[in-house]
Amino acid sequence: MINILKSYKELSLTVADIVEHMLSLPKPKLILPTGSTPIGLYKELVSRDLDWSHAITFNLDVYLMNVDHPESYQSYMRKNLFDRTNIYPDHTHFPFRPTSAFEDKITESMGIDLCILGIGTNGHIAFNEPGTSFKSRTRVVDLSLQTIQDNSRFFGSVDDTPKQAITMGLGTIMESKKIILIANGDHKLNILNVAMNGEVTEDVPASILQTHNNVEVYYCD
Ligand code: PGA
Repeated sequence: MINILKSYKELSLTVADIVEHMLSLPKPKLILPTGSTPIGLYKELVSRDLDWSHAITFNLDVYLMNVDHPESYQSYMRKNLFDRTNIYPDHTHFPFRPTSAFEDKITESMGIDLCILGIGTNGHIAFNEPGTSFKSRTRVVDLSLQTIQDNSRFFGSVDDTPKQAITMGLGTIMESKKIILIANGDHKLNILNVAMNGEVTEDVPASILQTHNNVEVYYCD
């Protein structure tokens, strides 16, 4: 179930091919991740100069923080993808409050074609931390200490790292027609194995993916 690729470049190219194919649909609807892992994917997509004018995107999660901060996920997406393609800004969506209105936007889009996910070292997907209900929907969450520590590398210190976020729920993510999980680095291999080959349990949020009928997992060390 886990496709092991030779290099980060190969991982980025492989997933870019899948996104490029999705962009050939009349109205592709994509759920997109942030973090370190997708940087190479976005770089590759930008270099292909694809037509994004008909695409609609939803991001998995956002920190509860000033959206203009350079480390906000809105800034990240503008810098790495949106400002470098012809996607319409009003076709790009980030979780917002009231979260039920964000869920309505996804429902109105009539179904997500592709959801791309990363995985946290504690098994989270989006900001659904261990113990999250498999039925969860978009909502405000407290980040776990592990996640705050992992993400402090972007903010300089744990104190300056946001402690809360709005995240899509596991139930929301699972409604996507196709899901791709990408992971990079030795530090992700153990949790990836536990999630994909171990028990399906809310203690390991990513393990829910074992119950989806169209999931592809790509890993490189
Ligand atoms: P990363 O984060 O790509 O920065 O490792 C993944 C995640 O925490 O979901």
